[in-house]
Amino acid sequence: MLSLDLGDGLTLTALEPWQSAELAAFVAAERDHLAPWLPWGASLHDEDRARAFLQRYADGTAADGPRIYALRVAGRMIGGTLFRVFDPAGGLCEVGVWLAADAQGRGHVTRAATAMLDWALLERGLHRAEWHCVPENLASRKIAERLGMRLEGTLRESWQHRDRLWDTEVWAVLAPDWRARSAT
Ligand SMILES: CC(C)(COP(=O)(O)OP(=O)(O)OC[C@H]1O[C@@H](n2cnc3c(N)ncnc32)[C@H](O)[C@@H]1OP(=O)(O)O)[C@@H](O)C(=O)NCCC(=O)NCCS
Repeated sequence: MLSLDLGDGLTLTALEPWQSAELAAFVAAERDHLAPWLPWGASLHDEDRARAFLQRYADGTAADGPRIYALRVAGRMIGGTLFRVFDPAGGLCEVGVWLAADAQGRGHVTRAATAMLDWALLERGLHRAEWHCVPENLASRKIAERLGMRLEGTLRESWQHRDRLWDTEVWAVLAPDWRARSAT
């Protein structure tokens, strides 16, 4: 399998429709951990839905748009990342992430997101990368801070999830700032 070695056995690999059973099993096992924060955390344990979800990203990749990756340690799926938005013409992308509960606290996602931003902003030449999270998701907003992103604003009551409306924080980094940070 083609994959990016992030060190210490951690790899970032394209996640494709033929892996829908693996993704469905992962989401089923991590449902309680993922469902509070991710729109698909309570539904992708269903293999057909997982396949349709991955097919949308496969179609996105084919069109140079949104794409999705698995994070693995020694072959075991421990989480994933995606470009929920990937728009080369507009110079914009948005990164999303998740981990198994027992894979947290080791910097895996910070490392993966750094590789994704290097690729999007330095190699592909996009201008702006965003990170969206609810203010209550402290682990997620800490990653945005760790990546040197700036909190640009809060979209009030913009996300309907689990029977309530949540605010959405928009964090972002621009390519010149990412380039300067990468050079140090
Ligand atoms: C959001 C989520 C991915 C964050 O996981 P995480 O383990 O905190 O993130 P990282 O893998 O980047 O690890 C960072 C943690 O590892 C620690 N760490 C250890 N070694 C590290 C290293 N080399 N580099 C960076 N951090 C390191 C950090 O201090 C931090 O721990 P802390 O928060 O206690 O300070 C995880 O909580 C999750 O999956 N939540 C459910 C899904 C979700 O909310 N997704 C985001 C929706 S917006």
